[in-house]
Amino acid sequence: MDITSSSAMLLTTIALAIITAVIGKVVRGRKIMVDPVCNRPLPPMISGASIIGILYTFLTKGFREMVHDQYTKLGSVFTISLFGRKITFLIGPEVSSHFYLGLDSEVSHGKTLEFTVPMFGKEFGYAVDFTTRNEQYRMQKDALKPSKLRSHLGPMLQEVEDFFAKWGQHGMVDLKQEVNQLLMLISGRCLLGKEIREMMFDEVLTLFDELFNNGMHPISLLFPYAPTVATRKRDRAHTRLSEMFSNIVRSRKSSKCAEEDVLQNLIDSKYKDGRPTTVAEVTGLMMSLIFAGKHTSSQSSAWTGACLLTHPRWLLAAIEEQEQIIKKYGDHVDYNALQEMDILHRCIKEALRMHTPTTLLLRKVHKNFSTQTKEGFEYEIPRGHIITSLPMLNNYIPSIYKNPNVYDPDRFGPGREEDKAGGKFSYTVFGAGRHACPGETYAYMQIKAIWSHLLRNFELELVPPFPKTNRWMVTNGGAKGKIIVSYKRRLLPRI
Ligand code: HEM
Repeated sequence: MDITSSSAMLLTTIALAIITAVIGKVVRGRKIMVDPVCNRPLPPMISGASIIGILYTFLTKGFREMVHDQYTKLGSVFTISLFGRKITFLIGPEVSSHFYLGLDSEVSHGKTLEFTVPMFGKEFGYAVDFTTRNEQYRMQKDALKPSKLRSHLGPMLQEVEDFFAKWGQHGMVDLKQEVNQLLMLISGRCLLGKEIREMMFDEVLTLFDELFNNGMHPISLLFPYAPTVATRKRDRAHTRLSEMFSNIVRSRKSSKCAEEDVLQNLIDSKYKDGRPTTVAEVTGLMMSLIFAGKHTSSQSSAWTGACLLTHPRWLLAAIEEQEQIIKKYGDHVDYNALQEMDILHRCIKEALRMHTPTTLLLRKVHKNFSTQTKEGFEYEIPRGHIITSLPMLNNYIPSIYKNPNVYDPDRFGPGREEDKAGGKFSYTVFGAGRHACPGETYAYMQIKAIWSHLLRNFELELVPPFPKTNRWMVTNGGAKGKIIVSYKRRLLPRI
């Protein structure tokens, strides 16, 4: 789960807690307003009595439908006002540029990510100033860049092979649970390093669960420092993980041994002034990577499976592609072979379009800015508003994605490339601009490694029904319940 999506849960929790009280408070309905300090009109605003209507839609149809309804009525920019807190929705690429490209001094995550401070420590991320934080982000980006990831592929594939070797000749599994476990093993090996993977993996796994589950508990999101059971458990997990990382970092530094993992990259990273990263910074950097990559990647792998296994044409095409790759590379999948899995890549990308794990992203506006809709309406978004970009809606805009409800990986293929034709910010599953996801290549690499292995070695069937998303969940694009898959071992022909 990405950091911003988690913070959106905070917003939703607040919104839902106060929304009931708002019902009794019949104020003005929707209207176009001009703020005294703004030169242009403000976006259409839903407030007062109109909130009752959107609450009704939320309760009966879910969050996505609620926003979609307003988008249809009001257009691509509108504001919901709840007890003085103004949330402005920016839907579609035309109005998204400032959201993604605005300077941190103009639009930033604001306090929406405050809850991450006790999770990741006081020397990282939202606990430190803009400049240091940007440098830390640069370090993560650097550690995950494609040239450095090549060396992770071997260990990654080894984890995949070992994991599926434990499956029987045939059987049934919950795909969600399986890929979740496997992805943590991969992270253990490629991100956290061999000390953790080989010696203390189970404990670390439990501690990460404690850290994330309690750090993301609704009370911890609202009051990160309240003395609750959840915050105590979160802090205990943080302290223990910090001790473990500290020992590993110190031992690597003193033995001068350098591993080929992301942890090592972060240990070796330096700030622009030449200062090396501290142990606490490395710990925060690692924790946030695991946090940002864990749910997003496992949800994506599970949805890829659900989509592929219910679309025989694409399943067959992906299998045939594996046969071709086997012809060329044999059983040895290297980085180039992975790059050539074009059909699989598009199948994943399309699954992500339809079932994005990052449904909604948030920023706080620090300086007024204006935006113009496709229809030519210009609005000013004032300082103090919270703005939100919604991949969950952007990915279904029919003027960009033809028949958006149809699973059609070809839409990203040569000649169509609907995401590119739609212009910048048409495909924001991995964010864009200043805070674009640094883990995109790594995420594709691991999802492809898993699915290429499964397609080569197993006949798979999804046990109906097709999974649903939880329509009440505002920020979580994961499938509801289990995704049961039956499997039978097979081997694709080798020539
Ligand atoms: C399919 C998998 C993934 C998806 C869909 C995804 C999506 C996203 C999105 C949308 C953002 C931008 C958030 C914003 O603008 O506020 C983001 C940020 C981030 N992602 Fe990912 N992510 C994925 C996997 C990963 C992985 C595997 C890692 C690390 C190994 C990772 C690390 C990060 C980090 C560190 C950020 C924060 C960047 C910043 O705030 O500047 N992500 N991700």
